[in-house]
Amino acid sequence: MSELSGKTALVTGSNRGIGRAIAKRLSVEGANVVLCARDEALLNEAAAEIRASGGNAAVVPIDLRDTDAGQRVVDEAVKAFGFLDIVVNNAGATKRGDFVTLSEDDWMDGYALKMFGAVRVTRAAWPHLKARNGAVVNISGSGGRTPGAQFTIGGSVNAALLSLTKALADLGLQDGIQVNAINPGPVRTGRFEKRLAQTAADHGVDRETALGIFLREERITKVGEPEDIAGLVAYILSKNGRYLHGSLIDADGGSTKTI
Ligand SMILES: NC(=O)c1ccc[n+]([C@@H]2O[C@H](COP(=O)([O-])OP(=O)(O)OC[C@H]3O[C@@H](n4cnc5c(N)ncnc54)[C@H](OP(=O)(O)O)[C@@H]3O)[C@@H](O)[C@H]2O)c1
Repeated sequence: MSELSGKTALVTGSNRGIGRAIAKRLSVEGANVVLCARDEALLNEAAAEIRASGGNAAVVPIDLRDTDAGQRVVDEAVKAFGFLDIVVNNAGATKRGDFVTLSEDDWMDGYALKMFGAVRVTRAAWPHLKARNGAVVNISGSGGRTPGAQFTIGGSVNAALLSLTKALADLGLQDGIQVNAINPGPVRTGRFEKRLAQTAADHGVDRETALGIFLREERITKVGEPEDIAGLVAYILSKNGRYLHGSLIDADGGSTKTI
């Protein structure tokens, strides 16, 4: 029997990128998966892919910046499968750029989705997770430990999410809920492709050369694949991974140089 058979997992931001790979992997492990994001056509495409492989998937088109979205998405997940065991807070989109010119809206947007979205989804899911000895995995980012001038919003949001992870892990001890976070470094998704295009433009080189420059500048072994992060999520949620609790795990090709 697969590790997650009979469980339901809600993965936010799962119509593309890292979230989509996580949803697919948890389905392969036997979980019913609930996918949510704004783009409904992409959501349906991701769900169809999962169903074509024999999995169970439900979709909730939603903007997680809305204050009632956390409760709504959890209600839909429970309506679809009857219970909820796992929440993966993955949705995030923070703008890079010069601190002085990043706008009020850029800051509000970044926090509304990645921080408050995770707070609201987790708060609404908590009683369901408590009833099922469930788990939360937060997808944070290496910028949370290693801030940078171009990443003031993302770095500070990720740090806040790491702090929330530790606090909820403490609460999870009494409520029987496993809580952990992963800090990805650069992972090959749409967001990374934009960064690579910028590196190519900055240096006036082609994409392949830009990739070499990027790896040297970032001092990393490789660019991660969404499946690398998905595999780690699956391990955390497996029986062997259950000892991980309150862990803030770097999966970043060596980009984090500090302890
Ligand atoms: N890729 C990296 O190099 C990297 C590195 C470190 C950390 N991370 C973190 O990993 C997570 C996933 O990153 P990714 O690269 O896979 O991002 P991505 O490819 O841009 O995907 C972001 C996902 O979030 C959804 N989303 C965006 N805005 C939303 C909103 N307002 N409401 C609901 N869903 C929304 C998107 O769907 P819609 O647009 O259709 O809503 C999409 O499914 C993020 O939290 C990111 O900060 C990524």
